Amino acid sequence: MLVDKLIIRGQKRLKGEVTISGAKNAALGVLPAAILSGDVCTIENVPDILDIKILRRIMESLGARFEDIDKNTIRIDTRNVNSYKATTNDMHKLRGSYYLMGALLGRFKKAIVTFPGGCNLGVRPIDQHIKGFEALGAKVEIQHGYIKLTANKLVGASIYLDVVSVGATINIMLAAVRAEGLTIIENAAKEPHIVDIANFLNAMGADIKGAGTDVIRIRGVKELKCNVVHSIIPDQIEAGTFMIAAAATEGDVLVKNVIPKHMESLTAKLMEMNVKVEEFDDSIRIIGRDNLKNVNIKTLPYPGFPTDLQPPAAILLLKAEGISTITEGIFENRFQYIEELRRMGAKIRVEGRMAVIEGGHKLTGAPIKALDLRAGAACVIAGLIAEGETEVFNVHYIDRGYENMVEKFQSLGADIRRISSN
Ligand code: UD1
Repeated sequence: MLVDKLIIRGQKRLKGEVTISGAKNAALGVLPAAILSGDVCTIENVPDILDIKILRRIMESLGARFEDIDKNTIRIDTRNVNSYKATTNDMHKLRGSYYLMGALLGRFKKAIVTFPGGCNLGVRPIDQHIKGFEALGAKVEIQHGYIKLTANKLVGASIYLDVVSVGATINIMLAAVRAEGLTIIENAAKEPHIVDIANFLNAMGADIKGAGTDVIRIRGVKELKCNVVHSIIPDQIEAGTFMIAAAATEGDVLVKNVIPKHMESLTAKLMEMNVKVEEFDDSIRIIGRDNLKNVNIKTLPYPGFPTDLQPPAAILLLKAEGISTITEGIFENRFQYIEELRRMGAKIRVEGRMAVIEGGHKLTGAPIKALDLRAGAACVIAGLIAEGETEVFNVHYIDRGYENMVEKFQSLGADIRRISSN
């Protein structure tokens, strides 16, 4: 088996421009949403990443056909999707496969799907998705490791989410657009990709109001048609990763194709740390400085600080003077990567849901493992600031969510390369 690793020689300042790709978590919802139309949809700005390749394979197994118009534009033909059974091994390989529940239920009034996979961040229940489907009239059974959803018809309902869940909000929205009558989701998540998926559904004829607020109203429609070309929003987390890397290397980087409003929680923290941030219409320039102030961060649902930027942010805090803290407010176990950083000399201790980070100590290059997708991004940034050579193993995690990460860092002057070995 080929095992890829990254080799990074650190302490080079990043300089130049980088263009951000389409949002992974938006694309993972938009592609299944196309199934609801039974039509041919053209989608632009689709990130060329492993999670999307796997999702495409799963959708092909259901009868969908894909045509690549160019590297990031695809045409999806879901006219011949004739199976409501998504049970291939691929389903375990990503979290986003759970959107096939809502999409297949909406189209066929039944679905049989495997439990989703995704990063190991502690227990990740899907009880709120199930609560939503049941409220719409579906019977939900767990059999032989599969989730079986069946309904004679779906009828709109009021659903209050007990926890703010991105996945449950989108999944309920997907099923409810083809239900009869009005569905109201209260305590809904407000992430930018929820708005993007709602915009795509509305462009196909759905009637969704309030996406981006905590109350979403969905009036069911009989059919959806792909009338327009949809362009996926820029990836907020990829943008944040490059912004943090620029700050951590004391670089000067223009991060292009971003929506600055989506980056506000990070921008505010960077400025609080004394990083210079210049905002333009669709780009942000980061000018790093060497005298970084310590800050406290708490991850929260949008518009709070995103949990997916928590591991990269920890690396930046290692460069600040004094003690900083990060409190993880979303997932129960998202500090596993810290053990790897300790090999590089990082001084971080974990107290329950809080990481206490002692800044101002140099990191030294070491062999480290990416333990999940965003932990992988943190490993790369750690390598970029460390003295000497860092080897990052388990690169496939990074491939799941970052398009051409190595090439993008190389174009900013980083000394990073990928090696495949047996
Ligand atoms: C999505 C993102 C992930 C991001 C996360 C939070 C995708 C494919 N993944 O994950 O990158 O880190 O949002 O922004 O878009 N919960 C329940 N019951 C449920 C659902 C969730 O208790 O039915 C809990 C989770 O365990 C977690 C919290 O709610 O503690 C938020 O989870 P959620 O927003 O659903 O995250 P995901 O959809 O899994």
